[in-house]
Amino acid sequence: MKNKYLIANWKMNKTLDENRDFFKIFLKKALTIPKTQIIFCPPFVGLFDVSNTLSGTGIEVGAQNVYFEESGAFTGETSTTMLKNCGCVWVILGHSERRSIFLEEEKLIRRKLENVLSSGLSPILCIGESLDERKNNDTSNVLYSQLSSALKNISNNSVENLIIAYEPVWAIGTGMVATASMIQETHNNIKQILTKLNFDNSKIPLIYGGSVKPNNAKELINIDNVDGFLVGGASLDPHVFYDIYNKF
Ligand code: 13P
Repeated sequence: MKNKYLIANWKMNKTLDENRDFFKIFLKKALTIPKTQIIFCPPFVGLFDVSNTLSGTGIEVGAQNVYFEESGAFTGETSTTMLKNCGCVWVILGHSERRSIFLEEEKLIRRKLENVLSSGLSPILCIGESLDERKNNDTSNVLYSQLSSALKNISNNSVENLIIAYEPVWAIGTGMVATASMIQETHNNIKQILTKLNFDNSKIPLIYGGSVKPNNAKELINIDNVDGFLVGGASLDPHVFYDIYNKF
């Protein structure tokens, strides 16, 4: 695996034409920073086209969600096989927007994670506390419960391609970025939780997400236990996203 990850979560943004316009600009830039994996997660309908556009560039493609069943009467859902068939390598799971808007519960996230790991796709598991939880000093408990639930039936041997994304809910799309010391402390905490759950935390990249922008990316990527970013808003513009890449 690479040492650093820069992941664009486009959420529900961009048409096929807009995707193509983005890459016409982005792929002309020098993408030569060593050991840094760039991953784009467009909406489902863009996956196939984006995968084709990025073929041969070394940039990888991820989905923003997946279902745990293989096929059948599950209207509106998508399987891991379909994602692989579209050129997907990664899948975001447990994003706070899935948890809060679409009411995804821990058990569902666990089933999805288990299915993704056994499918050969690589999961990007999102965890993070709300503002109230942080104010109430509940962050550790929340992160412990999200991790212990999602990883309940998974062993250290089967998480080779797992990335964990720490995304404090209050920092997503708000412009309120967690401070460097807060991120460092929370990442340490997550590593301790992983150890407690019998995982070798040195093998699981830990990335940060929540209002990452070109003006804070340098400071945040230099935190010793930050292995990269999951970027929302600032990944939608090729120049802005490239500015973040250049801080790696
Ligand atoms: P923003 O970068 O827009 O805060 O979004 C972060 C996020 O949710 C990435 O998954």
